[in-house]
Amino acid sequence: MILIDGKATAAQIKAEIKDKVEAIVASGGRRPHLAAILVGHDGGSETYVKNKVLACEACGFESTLLRFEDDITEEYLLSEVARLNDDASVDGFIVQLPLPKHISEQKIIEAIDYRKDVDGFHPINVGRMAIGIPAFISATPKGILELLRRYNLETSGKKCVILGRSNIVGKPMSQLMMQKNGGDSTVTVCHSHSPQLKEECRKADIIIAAIGKPCFVTADMVKPGSIIIDVGTTRVPDSTRKSGFRLCGDVDFESVAPLCQAITPVPGGVGPMTICMLMMNTLAAANHEYYK
Ligand code: GUN
Repeated sequence: MILIDGKATAAQIKAEIKDKVEAIVASGGRRPHLAAILVGHDGGSETYVKNKVLACEACGFESTLLRFEDDITEEYLLSEVARLNDDASVDGFIVQLPLPKHISEQKIIEAIDYRKDVDGFHPINVGRMAIGIPAFISATPKGILELLRRYNLETSGKKCVILGRSNIVGKPMSQLMMQKNGGDSTVTVCHSHSPQLKEECRKADIIIAAIGKPCFVTADMVKPGSIIIDVGTTRVPDSTRKSGFRLCGDVDFESVAPLCQAITPVPGGVGPMTICMLMMNTLAAANHEYYK
């Protein structure tokens, strides 16, 4: 069984990015600049954004964190997005989700200049990704493809089952795994209303679990020799931890791991790759790789 080490892979990619950045700086260019907007004090969002800022440091990027209280109006947040769109010193930026209920996430996402949308959430990037032309690709699915590639795990011609249909993971993952220049797999997407979910999983060569239900994928759902990618990061209470919680994946790792060809752990699998892909997208934005 291969334990897919997302932490080590992400560290290696960040070192590769840093080398490229130092070469840019040595030849007179400026450091890529990522800005992040964080609204409110959600624990998960705070951690993600803190880790994004740390990743910027590791990659030699400049970063700016803009923080607002959760009573910020939609209008004010839109004006901040417009300001970042117009700020030539910012190559790319993200608005950390979720946003407070009184703010339309879709409206905010669509207000971001797609050329700076390093999250790959804007409909222009989503559409371009879907038809397989250059675009910013959502970091989690991009990170999963990168892990599969770097571990030389064959996906072409395989049967891939994706659990979950979210805009951030399930939907883009299904597109990428299906594409000829992506996974080149036969893809089935299952969700909370899929009647044959267990049977579909048992037929899969690759399972990508992104439904946010701790330990949902059990040994009886897994074909021996399959590849298991766990996107779940549910916080479950754990009084033995200083934080009071631990992260729990969508896969029952203990029972499933012995059956697999390869599996990602939680934490240390997909998670670190996600932030790393945001860094890759920011470097691409700074280099105008997709849009002039
Ligand atoms: N919330 C959970 N994942 C993400 C992400 O990848 N980007 C943003 N902006 N918010 C998120």
